[in-house]
Amino acid sequence: MFGLGGPLNNYQGGEGMKLGIVILAAGQGTRMKSRLPKVLHPLAGKPLLAHVIETARSLEPDAMVVVYGHGGERVREALDGPGLQWVEQAEQLGTGHAVQQALPALKDLDRVLVLYGDVPLMRRESLQSLVAAAPSGFGLMTMNLDDPTGYGRILRNEQGQVQGIVEQKDASPEQLRICEVNTGIMLVDAASLARWLEQLTPQNAQGEYYLTDIVALAVAEGVEIRIAQPEDPVEAEGVNDRLQLAALERIYQRWQAEVLMRDGVTLKDPARFDLRGSLRTGMDVSLDVNVIIEGEVVLGDNVSVGANTVLRNVRVADNVLIRENCVIEDAVIGPDSAIGPFSRIRPGTELTGGAHVGNFVEIKNSTIGLGSKVNHLTYIGDTLMGAGVNIGAGTITCNYDGAYKHRTTIEDKAFIGSNTALVAPVTVGEDATIGAGSVIAKDAPAGELTLARGKQVTIKGWKRPKKGA
Ligand code: UD1
Ligand code: CA
Repeated sequence: MFGLGGPLNNYQGGEGMKLGIVILAAGQGTRMKSRLPKVLHPLAGKPLLAHVIETARSLEPDAMVVVYGHGGERVREALDGPGLQWVEQAEQLGTGHAVQQALPALKDLDRVLVLYGDVPLMRRESLQSLVAAAPSGFGLMTMNLDDPTGYGRILRNEQGQVQGIVEQKDASPEQLRICEVNTGIMLVDAASLARWLEQLTPQNAQGEYYLTDIVALAVAEGVEIRIAQPEDPVEAEGVNDRLQLAALERIYQRWQAEVLMRDGVTLKDPARFDLRGSLRTGMDVSLDVNVIIEGEVVLGDNVSVGANTVLRNVRVADNVLIRENCVIEDAVIGPDSAIGPFSRIRPGTELTGGAHVGNFVEIKNSTIGLGSKVNHLTYIGDTLMGAGVNIGAGTITCNYDGAYKHRTTIEDKAFIGSNTALVAPVTVGEDATIGAGSVIAKDAPAGELTLARGKQVTIKGWKRPKKGA
């Protein structure tokens, strides 16, 4: 898997401690103005919440609980997986109330880490630094922002010790000037958490049970609040609307592009590259602008991909040239092949190697043998093609009779003249030649020339009609 971070330490919530992770995802997401629940909106081709679950899983917790909202069954259906527990918070009474809903699912744990389903960029390295800062006790992730508007502010005493958090809507003008803010992410002793959550009241500007109020409760019991900060403040940014989603998409894409470039991949413009899945690359891979990589893609050594090409679940061997404007999906491309421009290679296709597939050629569910050429304006479907075959411009395999699909076999070194229709099921034998413009509905024998077309005639003395004659 393509990862954004360094090697994963085998972290277990502090020495010998059992870690539970709660992911809050019950918010309505009204500002997305969408029928799709907010946490299912994709970032780099994957739902926001899937990013958070993946990061959570990388910490190898003993339990993971997602708190989802009323009607969020869609979220659960989309993202359910091993080790995940789902708890419904039917009414959104606040972040403290949300965590409280998860408590019954968090039995027998020592520590609880709170994450957010709409904060997709938080890196495991930053979470690990939170654990390092608070191997036991209370850990809080904060950050310093030039513009802290909207966030809860961190209150410290003269000694610099954290005393509590005040929400934007409850803060005094003086408190609003504090630039250290709450990211929302915290790591708390499980037994204490349950006790503090019991004590929360909704006596505040929003009438909510604030999770943030447990900080002051902890301090009142003499617990020291230990602080960690993310490497990059964008890690703590949440998605509330489509503008923020687009902004985080660009940041995430830039991170991925940087990893690839450090790995030796040439990106002609890292700002015009999109990876929505995983990409493994060999040496000296070069991607021109607006290449989109989706699903799982593997590119071998010396692979060059032209502008505006989409590769979706494709394995490409060494020394392959994919020119501009190709769409290649669920396919295997053998070594030394050349594709495009404007080629469409559809699921189930394999180019064995050294093949040439050219302009306006569509290939579906077919094998193209070694060194075979399909260079112009052609449809090849459900076909087994041998080695050294040459397909003339405008050749069509008629693979569908209106009810069933049928297969075409083209044996080694066959030569298909231009504008030929091969009506499947049909076989063209080894080294056979098909005359241009043929409709081949019966097998064509090996080594012979087969034609199937009207004979050319010339009408002597024929006159073209003329107006007024
Ligand atoms: C919260 C923090 C604030 C912090 C900010 C960081 C509280 C009271 N405030 O404020 O200090 O600076 O996050 O972004 O915690 N959620 C539920 N159920 C609920 C309410 C919220 O699941 O009943 C989820 C939301 O889906 C969201 C997250 O909790 O993912 C945060 O909720 P939100 O209302 O956005 O919190 P803020 O007001 O931004
Ligand atoms: Ca709120």
